Amino acid sequence: MKIAVVGTGYVGLVTGTCFAETGNHVTCVDIDRNKIEALQKGITPIYEPGLEVLLARNIKEERIAFTDNLKEAVEEAVVIFLALPTPSDQDGSADLKYVLQVAEQLGDLITSYKVVVNKSTVPVGTSEKVAAVLSKKIAPELFDVVSNPEFLREGVAVEDFLKPERVVVGTRSEKATKIMADLYNPFVRQGNPIYFMDPRSAEMTKYAANSFLAMKISFMNEIANLCERTGANVDWVRMGIGSDHRIGKRFLFPGIGYGGSCFPKDVLALNLTAREHEYDFQLLQSVLTVNKHQKKVIVQKIKRHFKDALQGKRFAIWGLAFKPETDDIRDAPSLEIIEALLNEGATLNVYDPVAMENVRGRFGNRITYSANQYEALDGADALLILTEWSEFRNPDFDKMKDLLKTHTIFDGRNVYALDKMEELNFHYESIGRAV
Ligand code: UGA
Repeated sequence: MKIAVVGTGYVGLVTGTCFAETGNHVTCVDIDRNKIEALQKGITPIYEPGLEVLLARNIKEERIAFTDNLKEAVEEAVVIFLALPTPSDQDGSADLKYVLQVAEQLGDLITSYKVVVNKSTVPVGTSEKVAAVLSKKIAPELFDVVSNPEFLREGVAVEDFLKPERVVVGTRSEKATKIMADLYNPFVRQGNPIYFMDPRSAEMTKYAANSFLAMKISFMNEIANLCERTGANVDWVRMGIGSDHRIGKRFLFPGIGYGGSCFPKDVLALNLTAREHEYDFQLLQSVLTVNKHQKKVIVQKIKRHFKDALQGKRFAIWGLAFKPETDDIRDAPSLEIIEALLNEGATLNVYDPVAMENVRGRFGNRITYSANQYEALDGADALLILTEWSEFRNPDFDKMKDLLKTHTIFDGRNVYALDKMEELNFHYESIGRAV
């Protein structure tokens, strides 16, 4: 099948590459000429495990091409995926300007039947808005608008796309249903479902999924805070409750608050949708409050330990990305933690395996950057672990002790076992576990 993907961000690039992998002919289009030129050479603008290999293979087989010309991309395509940014507006609502602008342009270009698929996370009712824009310029039999939200996680995006737990497709058109089924059947061969539903339900599904997960994490963060105060250990509590299938083992890890480009933005936007419909979504408002607070917890621990005297203290930070296996720092808790510690007069030496350049772009020379995880420790009063990269799990503890001024670790991700830290004689503070 011939496919066009508009927008080569995270979702667009992974979608295009994975559809090419199943034999379709994909043209990806973006207004950023530099990005297109790099992609034509197989260079991806994002760090995503497995993506570059797949991309190279499909470029070689001529199943994927890149252009900045929308007309060229959509001319022969049967399906046009919109994978455009929907940034938060000032009030937190999703800004649809990119999606609607492209819909306007498509209105001038479409001359034969196309399925226009919305892959971006967009508020309930957006499919109808896109259809309304197209209807102004083209006849209704020339298009169907479909909502097909994406559930991939950064860091495992390729795997998530190739083996989705479910695919959600929102459309009322039989013709579009058949085309979307053909497109997705190769990915659900193990029997995972493709749910066909109305577009509004598909759009709501995406927000409900992300908000539920954000709520699950926030609940565990609060349980962890309470564990600390009651002398319980959140590791045991997590395993104890997670074994119940109704609760589930995943997404129960407490930490320094959820971050990234999705949860913070989507919880805010859903809360706004509720408000627009005069519904007081109290649980969601609590999730927002809890997460805001959780990002401060590690700084509070540090201040308590150092008796509020952080002026002139030097801290090493391991991990800056909002989670491992990505260089993404959007809404990463590390950013707020860095800012808070700088405000207290501390100096910081940071290390992250891939996110360092992005952080440099943000903080410049207000902090220093280490070539490796050990260099960051040199002369530091304490180490902070803010992202649970695998390479931090089994470090050379003797070397760490030699480098650190005091043997103190604040672990925002519960990377180490308590008994091991005790044995090694570290002062170790983590989340939801007794000191
Ligand atoms: C999230 C969803 O998991 C995807 O299903 C969805 O498609 C995506 O948003 C999106 O809307 O595009 P992502 O933002 O890549 O994916 O990252 P997650 O792995 O979900 O992690 C989000 C945040 O939650 C991270 O800051 C992570 O550290 C935190 N987290 C996750 C916890 O604090 N505890 C956990 O147990 C799990």
